[in-house]
Amino acid sequence: MNFLSLIEAKREGKTLAPGQIQEFIREFTAGKIPDYQMAAMLMAIYFRGLDTAETTALTLAMRDSGDVLKFPGDKRPLVDKHSTGGIGDKVSLPLAPLLACLGFRVPMISGRGLGITGGTLDKLDSIPGFQTLLPAKKIVAQVQKIGCVICGQTDRMVPADKKIYALRDASGTVPSIPLITASILSKKLAESLDALVLDVKFGCAAFMQTKADARKLAQAMVALGNECGVNTRAILTDMNTPLGRAAGNWLEVKESVDCLETGRADLRVSQAAQQRGPTDLLELVLDCAAHLLVQTRKSKSLAAARQLAGDCLDSGEPRKKWDKMLVAQGADLKAFNQKLAHDHTAPVVVELKAKKSGYVSRCDARLIGEVIRDLGGGRLTKESVIDFDVGIDRIAKPGERVGKFAVLCRVHAGNRRSAESASRRLKAAFAISVKPPAAFPLVAEILR
Ligand code: URA
Repeated sequence: MNFLSLIEAKREGKTLAPGQIQEFIREFTAGKIPDYQMAAMLMAIYFRGLDTAETTALTLAMRDSGDVLKFPGDKRPLVDKHSTGGIGDKVSLPLAPLLACLGFRVPMISGRGLGITGGTLDKLDSIPGFQTLLPAKKIVAQVQKIGCVICGQTDRMVPADKKIYALRDASGTVPSIPLITASILSKKLAESLDALVLDVKFGCAAFMQTKADARKLAQAMVALGNECGVNTRAILTDMNTPLGRAAGNWLEVKESVDCLETGRADLRVSQAAQQRGPTDLLELVLDCAAHLLVQTRKSKSLAAARQLAGDCLDSGEPRKKWDKMLVAQGADLKAFNQKLAHDHTAPVVVELKAKKSGYVSRCDARLIGEVIRDLGGGRLTKESVIDFDVGIDRIAKPGERVGKFAVLCRVHAGNRRSAESASRRLKAAFAISVKPPAAFPLVAEILR
């Protein structure tokens, strides 16, 4: 293959044939194309784009660059959710056991965080003994037996994406819709799914900051997922404010367990309180489950599906399933429960208090994410070591009424100096106004 002529063709805006794309992905994965040439191709794609047929070919070629999970025939549909990431986004943790209890199989292959965005695997690493790296055989066996697994990609799954993503990161070609679409969907398609729901976030702490850009990405992914035979839907959700009341690895595991334990009791309490309070996490978990129930024809309408998912959560079964998943993945349940019983596990906790009474009108997810990363809870580089115990909780959310000196959030830190520095920075994350801010929906749009 003359790869140089393909780079030149794409540079001139020509369309590549599916066979050409398959071949260069195969050759690149086998180490037969140098990184500098692939980086040039990625830059050509960044500027010239790929049409639907090219993006499909790229996605499938990337999927087929390694192992694809194979599951035995079973009446339980294979489903998953993917989020483009945000602050406090822990939806996957309660969602996986809930879906398993609703009669799905959930091979949830997740990733790690980079920059301000947290990663599901980092959160799970805060659980004593929990193993996130499992061989494909064990992933399939656990899904068949328990109904769900949350783990990392094996070395043999989608190796082309790993190599290409590293090059994109180093060559300024990450924000390309066809490349993002192929990267995300190649990994999801390697799970052999029947249905997929995509949570595409927009806002100051999201990958796509505007709703219009998030919509473009969502449309591309929905079209491609469906084209590749996976029933795919996307929801566009707000990421100007953190999801839930806690952000930081262990604090998010704790909040996820709360969500599994309180279920809709939480919703009843806070419905009386405010439009968009701590219920947002629960709402999103139930919404994702409801969409998958409708997509797989287990429910006729979203309303009926939400009711079913809510009843299932209230039954307490998903909380038991969570423990089963933990044990299957090597967790020390006794140590986990002991850890859960602590109010905090970081050495220092300080409270940030409101200077005046009023309504919380802003709670800036980006700033909160940056502060948590700088406390040691996130990565500045791929090599950074994470402090699982640091983070922020008891976050007051937009629309909530607070009195003077009420707690706006708590900072969990490794030492007093960093706690106080974080607390000073966080003052700018909150705004308090006399009137309640305009209500805004968590789920702005549904694309199918
Ligand atoms: N997440 C991915 O897995 N790939 C991208 O390209 C962007 C976000």
